Amino acid sequence: TTYKLLLLPGDGIGPEVAREVEKVVAWFTRSGLAAFETETDLVGGAAIDAHGVPLTEAALDRAKAADAVLFGAVGGPKWATVPYTKRPEAGLLRLRKDLGLFANLRPAICYPALADASALKRELVEGLDIVIVRELTGGVYFGEPKEIVTLEDGTKRAVDTQVYTAGEIERIAAVAFDLARKRRNKVASAEKHNVMKTGVLWKEVVTRVHAERYRDVELEHVLADNCAMQLVRNPKQYDVLVTDNLFGDILSDVAAMLTGSLGMLPSASLGAVENGTRRALYEPVHGSAPDIAGQGLANPIAMIGSLAMALRYSFGLLDAADLLEGAITRTLAAGLRTRDIAGPGANAVGTAEMGDAIVRE
Ligand code: NAI
Ligand code: MG
Repeated sequence: TTYKLLLLPGDGIGPEVAREVEKVVAWFTRSGLAAFETETDLVGGAAIDAHGVPLTEAALDRAKAADAVLFGAVGGPKWATVPYTKRPEAGLLRLRKDLGLFANLRPAICYPALADASALKRELVEGLDIVIVRELTGGVYFGEPKEIVTLEDGTKRAVDTQVYTAGEIERIAAVAFDLARKRRNKVASAEKHNVMKTGVLWKEVVTRVHAERYRDVELEHVLADNCAMQLVRNPKQYDVLVTDNLFGDILSDVAAMLTGSLGMLPSASLGAVENGTRRALYEPVHGSAPDIAGQGLANPIAMIGSLAMALRYSFGLLDAADLLEGAITRTLAAGLRTRDIAGPGANAVGTAEMGDAIVRE
């Protein structure tokens, strides 16, 4: 099988880290372990400069035709003053919307060589490997009514509404169980059924989806506030953690602090299954880092880790994903550090050196 990848490098350090992921893709194709057909297109400020819009219809069509999209980062001071719908970020939002990406995956991986950079003690995080599956298109951020009204006595009242349909919960649960089967086969589902009706339905639907289709996967229900505590007390107890938009926002930030630098964090956004493949976009959590752009200093690991996620979750190439993650682990264990993870006074390598070292490993 030849997998079709669309690479959208974007702006700032986006193209710099994208260059390193291209080296890895080329290595896989050369080695015969996995074959890729890679297309590249513009997104964000780069597309605005060339075409006047942050994402062309042609680029969107290519994204829909691809087996996976690898996205760098968009934005920068150059485009900060243009109207919102023409801003670089609108390109990413359009992709999310038109690809129907409703599941956001945020892994928290703690490489042993970097365990001392964690907010927690080494023994609690060394070897940590969990992934938080956050529902991205529903819940309290979007529910109606959503308003601030002035009451008769002149004081104000604010309303946000949390809404979930059984269908929305069912599809995010299926994503979590499918992922768990490609990992350690364990899912924890976090909600607050003790105080929220959406929590009651969430627990009920996750339980039913599990009983009907995923009996082989271990399932645990946990209250979201307890889950926050457990993530800090003993994060390694989890494998896949599935939760709603609001709790997922908070819990994935907590988990990110367990692992260290922004330059290390990959992510994925998954959508509906069409023609047998699930729509998917993989990207580093970080932005375009204008403060270091153009200097060859960016850490490419978040971007390369995003490819590893694509190998595992879009293509089911679990051995190739293990190999790539192992190469990152060994490169770090050998002492290589980009500036963001080097610590004060320590020697640091540039973007290309880090990428080359990972390819060698
Ligand atoms: P940022 O993530 O770009 O940078 C925050 C800090 O982390 C900076 O000091 C930067 O140098 C550092 N950093 C980020 N990635 C790094 C890497 N790979 N290696 C080493 N250091 C790294 O966030 P910021 O500064 O808030 O935003 C800059 C621009 O990026 C803005 O235009 C923002 O809108 C955009 N942005 C885009 C995102 C996307 O494309 N998905 C996400 C977040 C921000
Ligand atoms: Mg990004």
